Amino acid sequence: MACIIRQLQVAGFDHNLSYLLTAGEDAVLVDPAGELDVIRDALPEKFNPKYILLTHGHPDHAEKTEQVKGFFPAPVLGHPNCGVRGVFPLIDGQTLPIGELGDFVEVLFTPGHSRDSVCYLVNHDQGILTGDTLFVSYVGYGRADALFDSLCRLKKLPGRTIVYPGHDYGATPTSTLEEEKKSNPYFSCTTEEEFTLRLKDLD
Ligand SMILES: [Fe+2]
Repeated sequence: MACIIRQLQVAGFDHNLSYLLTAGEDAVLVDPAGELDVIRDALPEKFNPKYILLTHGHPDHAEKTEQVKGFFPAPVLGHPNCGVRGVFPLIDGQTLPIGELGDFVEVLFTPGHSRDSVCYLVNHDQGILTGDTLFVSYVGYGRADALFDSLCRLKKLPGRTIVYPGHDYGATPTSTLEEEKKSNPYFSCTTEEEFTLRLKDLD
């Protein structure tokens, strides 16, 4: 398997990050946002636009979806409740193949920041695109009970998995699940009570 994950600093609403995944000629865009020229410039000369994936329907992540189709004509996939017109609804746990060497993205529904939040796990443990569910050193504000359960789900994944967040809020643009377990004061909470109290700091 040989999927390349590129993080794109697209600026946008608030240090937004888009992602370009490539495996062979297949290309996948995640959360097309911000400066579309940054996305256009990152594309290889020859590519097959396979999917546009949305981590959730908040405008700062999804508002450029129609525009990006002008140079990346791919079907848009997201949570059935993401509210984006024309989206193909995903199912929790489904896998999306990329390229011809067995690369794939697994769909994980992670409600909390929003009810339509989705994380995309690449090749078991290569990386996870967390949208606004988990940031480096922070989490996305939202419903504490649902978010805590979703973070517990992420904690069960291999620690070496690289975290690719939807905003560049930390000291580094990426991290690992293991590192976040150690140093992220929200992700490291072990009880829902502790998490709920700490989340109030973010309000
Ligand atoms: Fe959001």
